[in-house]
Amino acid sequence: MGYPTIGKPDHERRAALMGDYAHACREFSWDNARHDLTGLPSGGLNIAFEAVDRHAAHPARRSRTAIRVLDRHGSTQELTYAELAERSNRFADVLHSLGVGTGGRVFTLLGPSPELYVTALGTLKAGAVLAPLFGGFGPEPVRRRMELGAASVLVTTAALFRRTVAPIRSSLPGLRHVLVVGPDPAGERSFDGLLASADPDHAIVPTDPRHPALLHFTSGTTGTPKGALHVHEAVVAHLATARAVLDLRPDDVYWCTADPGWVTGISYGVIAPLVVGATVVADARDFDVRRWYRVLAEQGVTVWYTAPTALRMFMAAGPQEAARQDLSALRVIASVGEPLNGEVVVWADATLGRPVHDTWWQTETGAIMIANFVGSEIRPGAMGRPVPGIRAGVLAQGPDGRALIGPDGRVTVLDGDAQGELALRAGWPSMFRGYLGEPERYAACFADGWYLTGDVVHRDEDGWYWFVGRADDVIKSAGHLVGPFEVESTLMRHPAVAEVGVIGVPDPTAGEVVKAFVTLRAGRRPSEDLRRELLTFARRELGAVAPRSIAFAPALPHTRSGKVMRRLLRARELGLPEGDLSTLENSAEVEVGVR
Ligand code: WT7
Repeated sequence: MGYPTIGKPDHERRAALMGDYAHACREFSWDNARHDLTGLPSGGLNIAFEAVDRHAAHPARRSRTAIRVLDRHGSTQELTYAELAERSNRFADVLHSLGVGTGGRVFTLLGPSPELYVTALGTLKAGAVLAPLFGGFGPEPVRRRMELGAASVLVTTAALFRRTVAPIRSSLPGLRHVLVVGPDPAGERSFDGLLASADPDHAIVPTDPRHPALLHFTSGTTGTPKGALHVHEAVVAHLATARAVLDLRPDDVYWCTADPGWVTGISYGVIAPLVVGATVVADARDFDVRRWYRVLAEQGVTVWYTAPTALRMFMAAGPQEAARQDLSALRVIASVGEPLNGEVVVWADATLGRPVHDTWWQTETGAIMIANFVGSEIRPGAMGRPVPGIRAGVLAQGPDGRALIGPDGRVTVLDGDAQGELALRAGWPSMFRGYLGEPERYAACFADGWYLTGDVVHRDEDGWYWFVGRADDVIKSAGHLVGPFEVESTLMRHPAVAEVGVIGVPDPTAGEVVKAFVTLRAGRRPSEDLRRELLTFARRELGAVAPRSIAFAPALPHTRSGKVMRRLLRARELGLPEGDLSTLENSAEVEVGVR
């Protein structure tokens, strides 16, 4: 919309890829996709076996570089497939000797590092469940998730231990072992010491395709974060999408910029590229446009999976930097996590020599579901079309913005050009299999055989999907999903605070930033000092998901059931129509006077 479509640069590969989209969809079956995997020698399926062991067993592939980590000190650490296989065996043995078996929960609080890969793959080999956490979280989100996920082991670094774990260590009695990478284990166990004395040939625990593998936390509008559980057969979708969407091949140098504390950083930063047999580049340093350009050029990155926030910062930095770098190796740029402006797609095509292929998915879907395919037309600004094997639908919405579910449990599937809630026909391999301990919340995600995504989309007459917005109040800031409830309940713990409403406000770079509206307890008065104190408090407790700004309000609008009406806060903040206020309590009386 607004931009011309971008054609197909590589005519030869086009036929082999998604040039004929309809044909590719007809030809695809998940059963065939399963045959692209090897399977355990004893039968069964294990993600880590597919990701490393089968390459390590192959004479031509075992000495290829599996991972190349650019660490925080500017040096490079590499592991071949054979080394990664051996070290992850050792970590599986460490878990075994610690008494952590099938189904045990192993949490990571680690940035990109060899230890992250070793822990992730070793955990899967042990039949345990990997639960990655974002290193940017403060102690409070970490504590909440480890409690919810009944963590038995945590692997972290000395620095993150001191900053984030030490303050909450005593409130997690179920956390049996903290393994600290590097020196100074601070009274905990040394990751390196345990690994050194472990068995390099520890055998994989046989897992079947339905065996739990990954636990990813995601945020909802209400209540605690949700723990989305995935099983080993998710790897079928990781591999199929790595090929069909990212066009990943074994000779690629691949860089996924997502942090390994989020679902993208694991599914497409660890699993998908290793299953393909590519070389993974990971970068532990903070974002910096000039340095990122250098990583692309110096590492000879061929496939780059990144996020709109980063691409917008590239665009804002101007074309000079791109001109200085040799990006000729770069074949595919893909993006995920938040709306990608068509402008960025066109800019990249002109400046980086490749367009950006937007992709859409969620923690719950476990793998890419909608994409602009390599070798096929791109519509700048559109999320793309469903990947082969995925049936997407647009469902008629009810007054709350979510899909309308009739008394008979049926939904209304709209045809052709339509707007409504995006839904996916349930049953693909990487579909989440539950929210930890919350069967009702899980069941509520499905209706009439469809998984309801919570996103509102427009589908054009040719079948391209365009993002419209979220049907709920969750916030997307720099690609990170932020649950307003989690931010609100943390701020509520400050003694000056009576009530909080948290919303996302548009930001040209991060998409949205978090803003909190606060009412104060009797006797407390708004002031600059208090505002700063609250911001600092939030930052300390929440880390990267803390609000960017705080406004004091004399009162907040409520629904009749007493919930803060974030939708109205947002409408007023942005000068939007206030919409259906039929559920607002005393709507005439409430004013959101913001100072
Ligand atoms: C939500 C899922 C995608 C894996 C990492 C984030 C938003 C995702 C796009 C896109 C517009 C997007 C949606 C979705 N989102 N991709 N291409 N265009 N919005 O997973 O944290 O579970 O977030 O991110 O709102 O529901 P997540």
